[in-house]
Amino acid sequence: MSKIHVVDHPLLRHSLTIIRDKTTNTDDFRRHTAIVSQIMIMEATKSLKTFPKRIETPLAPMDGHEIQKSIVFVPVLRAGISMLFPARDFLPWASVGFIGLERDEETAIAREYYQKFPPHLAEKLVLVLDPMLATGGSFADTISALKTKGAKTIKAVCIVVAPEGVAHLQQQHPDVDIYTAALDSHLNEKKYIVPGLGDFGDRYFGT
Ligand code: PRP
Ligand code: URA
Repeated sequence: MSKIHVVDHPLLRHSLTIIRDKTTNTDDFRRHTAIVSQIMIMEATKSLKTFPKRIETPLAPMDGHEIQKSIVFVPVLRAGISMLFPARDFLPWASVGFIGLERDEETAIAREYYQKFPPHLAEKLVLVLDPMLATGGSFADTISALKTKGAKTIKAVCIVVAPEGVAHLQQQHPDVDIYTAALDSHLNEKKYIVPGLGDFGDRYFGT
């Protein structure tokens, strides 16, 4: 069974409260999403390997470290884009794959409209980025698509998750760990996370 990592940090609690607040404007929503995303990326990459690297500082030689560079980010369009740029600030060499999924407003079932992944996924750590894990359908479909293309080591990086979605993802992909800033109460009748933060894509993109 995969693990769920509910990350806690004072900066995370503060910024998460700002993005949950319905009175927050687009500008602040984007800024605090970036802060939350960077903290989540830090946690999700905690187990990355580093290799010894001999360098010279201006004063003396020393043994430093170089990080494993075989990483792929896969933001789930649209909302996942919000986490991509903060992630790339930390790991600018990482390659990026895309998948476009949109939930039907009536059924909440996601429909795929775009897919482009980089090659050699089997040798890479793949971080799937999507702020909202509601029913879990979008994450489960993304991970299935990545596995079909050879990915073996995958982590799900979210901001807010619902218990129903976590259970679905753990059942479909028990090998995939989940990182989140909050595990919320439940889904409402329209499959929105409660208390959640509303429609993330609409709030982030101002639509
Ligand atoms: C939202 C969100 C996730 C998905 C989560 O996207 O960004 O991708 O819903 O729901 P699920 O766990 O029930 O699949 P949406 O389909 O609204 O598209 P958008 O990102 O274009 O707004
Ligand atoms: N997608 C969102 O943006 N918010 C939710 O609560 C559920 C799915």
